[in-house]
Amino acid sequence: MGYCGIINNLRVLPSSRARWKLFLICTMLCFCGYFIYYKFGDRLTAFPVRRASQGVTSDNHISRGLLHEKNDVDYAGEELEEVDSDDGHGEDLPDEQLRRRFPQAIIIGVKKGGTGALRDFLRLHPDVVAAGGEPHFFDRNYEKGLDWYRNLMPKSTENQMTIEKSPSYFINSRVPARIHAMSNLTKLILLVRDPVTRVISDYAHVLEKRVNVSSFETMAFKNMSAVVNSEWTGIRISLYAKHMVNWIQYFPLKRLLVVNGDRLIREPAAELSRVQDFLGLRKLITKKNFVFDTEKGFYCTTKAEEDYKIPHCLGKGKGRAHPVVRPELIQQLKKFYKPFNRMFYKMVGQDFGWD
Ligand code: A3P
Repeated sequence: MGYCGIINNLRVLPSSRARWKLFLICTMLCFCGYFIYYKFGDRLTAFPVRRASQGVTSDNHISRGLLHEKNDVDYAGEELEEVDSDDGHGEDLPDEQLRRRFPQAIIIGVKKGGTGALRDFLRLHPDVVAAGGEPHFFDRNYEKGLDWYRNLMPKSTENQMTIEKSPSYFINSRVPARIHAMSNLTKLILLVRDPVTRVISDYAHVLEKRVNVSSFETMAFKNMSAVVNSEWTGIRISLYAKHMVNWIQYFPLKRLLVVNGDRLIREPAAELSRVQDFLGLRKLITKKNFVFDTEKGFYCTTKAEEDYKIPHCLGKGKGRAHPVVRPELIQQLKKFYKPFNRMFYKMVGQDFGWD
């Protein structure tokens, strides 16, 4: 508007009519600029991050090939958790105060990163309601429509935040645009773990769910050679940089929190503090809510101090014993992931020290 004012004051213009026309044009341009910023502001701020991701791909031509490959990870055949929309919060409130709302925050992955643990921990917060199970709306059920999706959410009050988790969102290139179309203000949480540990955790999951499973070495390496089998879904999911490229085109980093899944295991309260900050929640989940269960080998939760003696632990499927993998295979996998990890650190501005 200041710019328009200056032009309006120019004395070189022939007539007051011409000055008036110029003033109108300037005003329209100002409105157009404001509209474009309002509508696409988020995407404009996300672009520099995308350019950064293009820059780092020069590290290694093999990783660059995999990074830009268009194929999505094939998640077909994976069993899904049933959706249970009853979260339990707010059941004492009159019905007119409760409504099903779209999630303001989504845990987008990664599978085996600790997504179930984080969702359970967040449920301790009185200002959070979470859909049970995994809706998988944006990747598998999109054609069912947004009303279907909202109906999966638990009822909440105006002051509560609705969340859901669907770990396969992270690896599907169509999902970022779809979430962005629902609301570009959606907050995203991504949990990552050491990519090699994640692959082994994925394998342990497969071992439990299926019969006649080949050895880890057969699945993770081509013909028992030292060449990593990047066609196996288990390996591809851990290529975090490859998937991240799709997200940073739509969401600026201020809307995407990357949580350290390994730290969530060791120090849940510390990671929960970051998550509560990011979500703009009161810091009500603290150390007092966690107690280490020696039998489970993980932290379990307690709702309040008087419940201290009856902690709630995650089910059998979370925190499985991992199969022993030979150290040289671990080293080969570490070497394979190293360039991708470096790219990922640059993209998110955080070094996880996996190499
Ligand atoms: P493992 O079973 O390999 O140990 P997800 O819910 O995304 O599938 O992640 C499962 C992982 O969550 C588990 O992998 C486990 O390590 C991790 N986790 C983090 N905190 C946990 C907790 N308090 N209890 C159980 N598992 C936890």
